[in-house]
Amino acid sequence: MIKHCISLIIILFIPFLKSYCQKFEGLALTPPMGWNSWNKFGCNITEKIIKDAANAMVNSGLKNAGYEYIVIDDCWQSGRDSMGFIMEDPKRFPSGIKSLADYIHSKGLKFGIYTCAGRFTCGKRPGSRGYEFQDALTYSNWGVDFLKMDWCNTEGQNAKESYSLMRDALYHAGRPIVFSLCEWGLNKPWEWAQEVGHMARTTGDIQNNWNIVDAKEGKCWAGGVVVNLDMQQGLEMYARPGYWNDPDMLEVGNGIITENESRAHFSLWCMLAAPLMTGNDLSNMDNFTKNILTNSEIIAIDQDGLGRQGYKIKDYGEFEIYYKLLENDEAAICLFNRFDENIQIEINWSTMNCRLMKDKKIINLTEKINRKEIIFNQEYFIRDLWKKENIGTTKKSFSKTIQPHDVVVLKFTTIKKK
Ligand code: GAL
Repeated sequence: MIKHCISLIIILFIPFLKSYCQKFEGLALTPPMGWNSWNKFGCNITEKIIKDAANAMVNSGLKNAGYEYIVIDDCWQSGRDSMGFIMEDPKRFPSGIKSLADYIHSKGLKFGIYTCAGRFTCGKRPGSRGYEFQDALTYSNWGVDFLKMDWCNTEGQNAKESYSLMRDALYHAGRPIVFSLCEWGLNKPWEWAQEVGHMARTTGDIQNNWNIVDAKEGKCWAGGVVVNLDMQQGLEMYARPGYWNDPDMLEVGNGIITENESRAHFSLWCMLAAPLMTGNDLSNMDNFTKNILTNSEIIAIDQDGLGRQGYKIKDYGEFEIYYKLLENDEAAICLFNRFDENIQIEINWSTMNCRLMKDKKIINLTEKINRKEIIFNQEYFIRDLWKKENIGTTKKSFSKTIQPHDVVVLKFTTIKKK
């Protein structure tokens, strides 16, 4: 009780101290990797589900592949105690959040939690509005390493101010916590969130779907994989070590998108240097899903230390080429077939001219984007990262058949001249 009273007195005075207006630097120097409960379990979460996910992250090899955060999303809260401290739902989390955090840490993983900038979360649980410093202190005492803050029920609030308040509260609480903003891209967080947090959602909620045409046409706010992908164009200049654009969590392994689409989804998120938050049931993963999520060469593209977000250098509508500059003058290229049929492509790397064919007949498509600055003017080795094969150098032109909604990801390594 006395400890709680002292905390409360400190909390009341903190907002007046200016020296805490900063985020924790040195965190999320590469895009955060982990698992979040929302995409698969929604509000139906329990202590057991979260512990199972932590166990599976270790046992399935995901931890070894670099995944580290286990994040509980909405619906873990039940209310506040008489002094305003947030309480977990005792039925779903009978051992308490602190004990769950300890369990996750004992597995060598990090622990993440969810709150909302409004008075209530989207799932109608208590939000942090008016309790920012108190909640930050609680999270810090529990051993939280990652905080996602949502944007429901925030009528009249200013996004930058609301998120900055929690940033300051976290900083004051003293425990380094990765701060993940989730205001759905409504207030262009990419323009201001670098000073506030470590990642910011740029879209509405991803749906377990390839393409929701209504979302594309602006008729609803939640899109599928390619809807969220297309919203990243132009945001590449804002991402950097310590701040990442977040096109939302992964739907790989959730049983709707096809194998090709899952490979494309994962590869494109890696090209974008997106946070890699898996959203499937880690305890029940088929081998195909596991192989995608643990492809170390594709993950290395996402985690590359230069921290550049990839972008489109060619856009023919249904065929696109993404480019990501990597450390040591290396680069990754992702060839993306959005057609519902196979296509054959031929690329001359020195001119970046592409020939596209369907059933061996050339198809002429308008080039909507053609970024000339990327023309390769020297010879590189090329490696196919899904086939895990070296395929020669850029001297030779490249031809390949790409399946519908699938990708080919190539890594270009410089040939060191003696
Ligand atoms: C949404 C958010 C989702 C999930 C959900 C929980 O606003 O974008 O990722 O957190 O709320 O209610």
